[in-house]
Amino acid sequence: MRLSAMLPLALLALASLAPAQTAMRGPVRPQAVAQTPPMGWNSWNFFAERVTDKDIRAAADQLVSTGMKDAGYIYVNIDDTWEGERDANGVLQTNSKFPDMKALADYVHSKGLKIGIYSSPGPKTCGGYAGSLDHESQDAQLYASWGFDYLKYDLCSFIPAVMEKQAPNDKAAQMRLMIAAYDKMGKALKATGRPIVYSLCQYGWDQPWEWAPALGGNSWRTTGDINAHWDRVYALLEEQKGLAKYAGPGHWNDPDMLEVGNGDLNLAENRSHFSMWAMLAAPLLAGNDLPNMKPEITAILTNRDVIAIDQDRLGHQARFIYAAGEVEVWARDLANGAKAIAVLNAGDNLYSTHPFHLDLAKLGLHGTQKAKDLWNGKDIDLTDNMPIELASHDILLVKIAAPK
Ligand code: GLA
Repeated sequence: MRLSAMLPLALLALASLAPAQTAMRGPVRPQAVAQTPPMGWNSWNFFAERVTDKDIRAAADQLVSTGMKDAGYIYVNIDDTWEGERDANGVLQTNSKFPDMKALADYVHSKGLKIGIYSSPGPKTCGGYAGSLDHESQDAQLYASWGFDYLKYDLCSFIPAVMEKQAPNDKAAQMRLMIAAYDKMGKALKATGRPIVYSLCQYGWDQPWEWAPALGGNSWRTTGDINAHWDRVYALLEEQKGLAKYAGPGHWNDPDMLEVGNGDLNLAENRSHFSMWAMLAAPLLAGNDLPNMKPEITAILTNRDVIAIDQDRLGHQARFIYAAGEVEVWARDLANGAKAIAVLNAGDNLYSTHPFHLDLAKLGLHGTQKAKDLWNGKDIDLTDNMPIELASHDILLVKIAAPK
């Protein structure tokens, strides 16, 4: 027998050894995911229900060609409206917008990216497509067989179809049903043996930060849906106060996906939105029209210094420190003793910052601090009581390498 003909036999022999070794070492744990907040792109905020296979391929291509992949955007996530009907065996089919999920996943993987999918614990998704109720293991196995790396699991119809039906007028029992449903999918994903990021989407009901990590949740939405208007972005930011202690490697608060580059957000607002999501150690899932992205939006989304705040290995989410009028100051501790500070003018004009003076003592700092302004890349000295002037909805984001 020639060597080349013997090789498959040798591989078979090796493969047959693997289970024995596994048995000796105990069950194989899927590799840990989301050790820093997941980064990527999701179809919902721009395409909503119009998304197709072609758009997902184009997004993957663009992540590569714009430099976003190199900056850390790895997950290409299909949101709602890919689902078709179940066949006679209960196996979920795709609809005509997604002719071949395995081929699509292979394509995204061939670019060095990962791919995500979406479902609901209810009978239907938010968009009215087939959900996973009573098919949790079957669906998890299907995602794994296609090669998916991320699941967003969105409550929606589970509320009327299960919670309100099985436990009318009993909120506590409804929450138990909800948590059990998320637990069920968490176990189903784990049983696939594939490392799959598990993203809970139930709008922050019943403090998911308290229970989601224990059932394998890698992130949980803390609020209702974002939209591409400053008032909404700011309202979501306000809801994050007090949640810092729940975030850490493998489990993150999710104030919803990015709207950077969408709707009527101006440049200052895009910068502030991106800066604050990075301060919050939020998943950075862009949601804009990548093939038509303007250079100034690419520049915001690929600012390496700001991304490094989000991705800091300690995973310490920013805390709200103080407000003076409409100016807010947030801070987060970074690896190697560094600190990031954000000063946000949430007011409607420049005069909201008159008078604003930075109070270093409130930040636990003493005397002049050498810092870097992460939006203009320049060094800046922060002195006690210094006045800071910011345009409406703009931000000063700095990193202090050696705070005193
Ligand atoms: C909900 C979610 C959104 C999106 C839509 C899809 O509203 O919160 O992020 O997934 O459903 O239908």
